[in-house]
Amino acid sequence: SDRINIAIDGPAGAGKSTVARKVAEQLDYIYIDTGAMYRAVTLSAQRAGIEPRDSEKLSVHARTLDIKLAPGENGQAVFLNGENITDLIRSREVTLAVSHIAANETVRELLGRLQRQLAESKGVVMDGRDIGSHVLPDAELKIFLTASVQERAQRRFKEIAATQSITLEQLEQEIAERDRLDEQREISPLICAKDAIVLDSTSMSIDEVAALIVKLSRTKL
Ligand code: C5P
Repeated sequence: SDRINIAIDGPAGAGKSTVARKVAEQLDYIYIDTGAMYRAVTLSAQRAGIEPRDSEKLSVHARTLDIKLAPGENGQAVFLNGENITDLIRSREVTLAVSHIAANETVRELLGRLQRQLAESKGVVMDGRDIGSHVLPDAELKIFLTASVQERAQRRFKEIAATQSITLEQLEQEIAERDRLDEQREISPLICAKDAIVLDSTSMSIDEVAALIVKLSRTKL
């Protein structure tokens, strides 16, 4: 066939979203940021005053939400019940809570279903934590993108230091904690799928990683 699905999973800050966006651009595929969906549910729960541990309330709330992704100025725009929340979901408050919300079974079921629908007609590059292992087990190309936690913290620090007051050490701790929560949750945790290709981006540039994935994708056609 002429189009495949590409899953890019890995820990926080490994460069998945930038890489996935570039790969999608080069292949003329659709980029889907699944982390943005979990962030959208998190923002909505916070606004409604729902604690992550109140799983019943959170489940009921999640079922009422309409989450949509659309091509935006810098990649992808996210809409919650029609409201553009693209910038709001990048706040520290959302980032600190999202892994707790993402552990909820109903939330994962709902978003997983939405993600599968979006991938039905092929030609998507989807980034997340459980795409190759759980959401799209039949994806033709699966990448597990990693980098050392120090490198990931440093990259993120350069991105946000100007706008948010946080130290590199704090950031490193928060990233490590998010990885721990994502790896240890019961339902579809962050794991490397058996048939995924592991890429360590610690000493590779984003462009090198993207070019490699594009090359690999051609071998799957
Ligand atoms: O990719 P990003 O860092 O924006 O993801 C935010 C959070 O959403 C992750 O730390 C994880 O808890 C959750 N997530 C997930 N499954 C995915 C994508 C994201 O649980 N497929």
